[in-house]
Amino acid sequence: MAAINADPEVMRWIGDGSVRDRARTRAGIDASEREWEEHGVGLFAVECRESGQFVGFAGLSVPSFLPEILPAVELGWRLARPFWGRGLATEASRVVLDFALRDRGLARIVGVHATGNHASERVLGKLGMRRERRTTHPRYGVPLCVHVLETCP
Ligand SMILES: CC(C)(COP(=O)(O)OP(=O)(O)OC[C@H]1O[C@@H](n2cnc3c(N)ncnc32)[C@H](O)[C@@H]1OP(=O)(O)O)[C@@H](O)C(=O)NCCC(=O)NCCS
Repeated sequence: MAAINADPEVMRWIGDGSVRDRARTRAGIDASEREWEEHGVGLFAVECRESGQFVGFAGLSVPSFLPEILPAVELGWRLARPFWGRGLATEASRVVLDFALRDRGLARIVGVHATGNHASERVLGKLGMRRERRTTHPRYGVPLCVHVLETCP
């Protein structure tokens, strides 16, 4: 994961767009472990079925960086560049969505991407999420797009 977080092309549309070192990667994994314990949601490792190679993560988190949409659970992913373009983000995210809706019984999932991150926007569209609003990252001033998927009551 540290190698993925050190790739500027991967990190281009995440946070302020800067790469993350090993310590920050560790802190991110620790934060996800805490979310599993406190909220019952978190990140899953994604592996390539054929080779067993580590591809990245897909999963759920509480988007505390964006208080205006709270309470919410966010679907997200981050894959190593050699694995892009094979449909893996969509495949992994479908499994995560199923986990969120069926296993965790959540009725509303959000997806947040930086404006211009067209690949992620496309993935959210393929998952059936609709664009709800445009806003700005409170800390980094980056324009963001919020997508939502809601189940019928
Ligand atoms: C975004 C990302 C997950 C895509 O992974 P992936 O496995 O290649 O995604 P998929 O193949 O499932 O789907 C990508 C879709 O976007 C399309 N796409 C890719 N690049 C695109 C671009 N620059 N403009 C428009 N569409 C694009 C693909 O054609 C595909 O759509 P299609 O199935 O209709 O052809 C990957 O680029 C990534 O991990 N990026 C870095 C981290 C990141 O941005 N995370 C999300 C933050 S919100």
